[in-house]
Amino acid sequence: MNTTSLTNRQFLLAARPVGLPKPSDWNFTTEPVRDIGDGEILVKLLYLSLDPAMRGWMNEGKSYIRPVGIGEVMRAGGIGKVIASKSPKFAVGDHVSGSLGVQEYWAGPADDKGASLHKVDPKVAPLPTYLNTLGMPGMTAYFGLLEVGQPKAGDTVVVSGAAGAVGQAVGQIAKHKGCRAVGIAGGKEKCDFVVKELGFDACIDYKSGSVKEGLKQHCPNGVDVYFDNVGGDILDEVLTRINMKARIVICGAISQYNNTTPVKGPANYLSLLVNRARMEGMVVFDYANRYHLGVAEMAKWMKEGSFKSREDVVTGLEKFPEALLMLFEGKNFGKLVLQVAQDD
Ligand SMILES: NC(=O)c1ccc[n+]([C@@H]2O[C@H](COP(=O)([O-])OP(=O)(O)OC[C@H]3O[C@@H](n4cnc5c(N)ncnc54)[C@H](OP(=O)(O)O)[C@@H]3O)[C@@H](O)[C@H]2O)c1
Repeated sequence: MNTTSLTNRQFLLAARPVGLPKPSDWNFTTEPVRDIGDGEILVKLLYLSLDPAMRGWMNEGKSYIRPVGIGEVMRAGGIGKVIASKSPKFAVGDHVSGSLGVQEYWAGPADDKGASLHKVDPKVAPLPTYLNTLGMPGMTAYFGLLEVGQPKAGDTVVVSGAAGAVGQAVGQIAKHKGCRAVGIAGGKEKCDFVVKELGFDACIDYKSGSVKEGLKQHCPNGVDVYFDNVGGDILDEVLTRINMKARIVICGAISQYNNTTPVKGPANYLSLLVNRARMEGMVVFDYANRYHLGVAEMAKWMKEGSFKSREDVVTGLEKFPEALLMLFEGKNFGKLVLQVAQDD
């Protein structure tokens, strides 16, 4: 394929945001697609994964991954199609998943460690599902719940952000393991979906009612595992309902990511002492060498029809800045995916 006439539109980080990211925090640029060398491939982006973690990657300072530099292409997971290859590892036409960035084309070594490219098969599942249940959020739910939360049959598992990418999988995995699954989500429509479509036992609408009352009603035997996606007041409220030896999985704290004041920690943390409970953070990348096990089990459940994967697809690379904000406004319903191009 002649790639010399192709141009690559990219979103570069222009400034470190204060609070919610604004349009001026980005530079939307166009540059020619470069030629590839030996061992390299050229990938045309099809879908990008929009994740709450991207907000953290825009900050300066130490974290579990290096911050995106000013002037660099914004980091993002994605799925694309190989359109040129000088590597035996990937052929033209292969679909690949990896850290491809907020842009239309990715060029680089097929064995680039940072991009960690691997093949995905659109015949097994629709491509956006590889950014959801069969991708990073699904693996976060699987290993976070099973390894850190260690649920036992009969336990009550509560998860916040229940209608989102990670949350929807956590509750469904909990059900598969014989637990009572109680979600916390914003709005009646999301709560109805979580209970009626995903099979959770109950869902608390934190936007229209009291989380305290909801927990009392739906967790009559207390909380054994809390999978925390949001932090803040909801974490504090759940802490008042935990059982002896409860496990609290600190997966994320989206309610705090855009704070311009210090992160609000849990005032009720002494409940951990009283209940001899454990609160433990997790980072999905630590389980990378076992992703195949999580993918195999969840793909089997999906094939059997006992596991659902909902994605919310927004179309057009240029929509990236506003689409990212949907996550922080609760406007996404399911895993938020940005479609960059058609798979033709
Ligand atoms: N540790 C890891 O390795 C890892 C990996 C992946 C993700 N995560 C974390 O997991 C969490 C969920 O990620 P996701 O990709 O599944 O996102 P998501 O749940 O699909 O989308 C974000 C959702 O968060 C909720 N939300 C936003 N602002 C909120 C607030 N102030 N208070 C309460 N809820 C709020 C909204 O749902 P409602 O409409 O229900 O409010 C929104 O739809 C995030 O904290 C993310 O950083 C961690």
